[in-house]
Amino acid sequence: MNQLTLPTFPRDFVWGVSTASYQIEGAVKEDGRGPSSWDAFVAEPGRVLNGDTGDVACDHYHRYPEDTRLMRELGIDAYRFSFSWSRIQPGGSGVVNAAGLAFYDRLVDGLLEAGITPSPTLFHWDTPLELEQAGGWLNRDTAARFGDYAQILGTHFADRIPRWITINEPVVLTMLGYGAGIQAPGLALGFGALPAAHNLLLAHGLGVQALRSAGAQNIGIANNHAVTWPASEREDDLQAAGLYDNIANWVFADPLLKGSYPEELAPFLPPIPEGDMATISTPIDWYGINSYNPTLVGAPTTGDAALIDGHVLDSSLPFSLRELEGYPRTDFDWPVVPGAFTELLIGFKERYGDTLPPLYITENGAAINDGPGTDGRVRDQRRIDYIAAHLHALRGAMDAGVDVRGYFHWSLMDNFEWAVGFSQRFGLVHIDYQTQKRTPKDSYYWYQGLIRNSKGGA
Ligand code: BGC
Repeated sequence: MNQLTLPTFPRDFVWGVSTASYQIEGAVKEDGRGPSSWDAFVAEPGRVLNGDTGDVACDHYHRYPEDTRLMRELGIDAYRFSFSWSRIQPGGSGVVNAAGLAFYDRLVDGLLEAGITPSPTLFHWDTPLELEQAGGWLNRDTAARFGDYAQILGTHFADRIPRWITINEPVVLTMLGYGAGIQAPGLALGFGALPAAHNLLLAHGLGVQALRSAGAQNIGIANNHAVTWPASEREDDLQAAGLYDNIANWVFADPLLKGSYPEELAPFLPPIPEGDMATISTPIDWYGINSYNPTLVGAPTTGDAALIDGHVLDSSLPFSLRELEGYPRTDFDWPVVPGAFTELLIGFKERYGDTLPPLYITENGAAINDGPGTDGRVRDQRRIDYIAAHLHALRGAMDAGVDVRGYFHWSLMDNFEWAVGFSQRFGLVHIDYQTQKRTPKDSYYWYQGLIRNSKGGA
């Protein structure tokens, strides 16, 4: 597939890239940054592939001017990065660390000078360790602390930051961090993780209110969603897939967009204090969707238990994740199914109707691990194919009436891919982790051309 066959997008469609603090910044002990849940997690033997850590990562903390130049040349409209909470408040509450704030001042000002709209996420999983040790997201107090933190950032940046994202993917932090123990903080509580979901949603609502009261506008969230397909039309598979769909998708979207949890999940949820649902459903200006691939779900099986990225989940769960056969795969072994992206977006429109705010795609991308050839060029054609196919799928949803305002590609550059360390490369820019050399890949130049064309340029 090449550029010529690509669909067209509205002129004011926002083109961007996404990253996250712990995945790129490094400098974990600099300028007063406090430790986060991820610093503690990576220090536990066996948690992360090859013992990789985010201690240095892409050294973005020092190399942000070069990274900003790369973004300017790429031609993006907007950059989605995340603030590291423990740089701003080293213990997650109380006093503000001026040096931490100053880093983001430099970054934001540099982006504005480069003509790029800063579109930050307040929290992308790196919980200040002190809060984690006090129960983290299982502790309702963390949501209140997040509200205070949002107030600090809103007050400081509202005049310079025109688009805000509260929290990244409460679902993944809940399921992989507290449910399955694959990511920080590494707890495997199964359904016992659901209070974390509620507290994250509450934090989001408090965050929206705090940001607005500080004068910030244009606020959304970045939620991960995947179409859930049943393994068969058998009753037990349909039931298991329905339950999983609620847990993975609607627990995180319904409270925001409808003000209630899916009824089927009532038996699994803690009692909800009066007023929480109103806070959680504080209107947002737009809704962000991160999506990579669909999920195939069936009834529980003995033998092949549920699997996420090679990790075996608790086999007593009332569902099992199945291999989706017959599709190309990324190097992370994720199936490439662009049609499921269209289905997902149309499904949102059908579920929420006219109450659905405008959507942004806040993440979409593929782990394609091609490195530089002997000539130094990175020929990651499979990433180009992935993006092109997903943009077609996105355009299909827009043509069917779904209001999508922008696309942020995950990711600007290769980075620390959580439990699998540096083994998976999602970037448009290649990082040599020995030298920190940045090499724009073929996909970078392709995305650059796409943006130019879409703006009607040469
Ligand atoms: C996360 C990113 C991650 C990406 C690829 C998303 O779930 O927000 O932090 O790197 O997926 O796995």
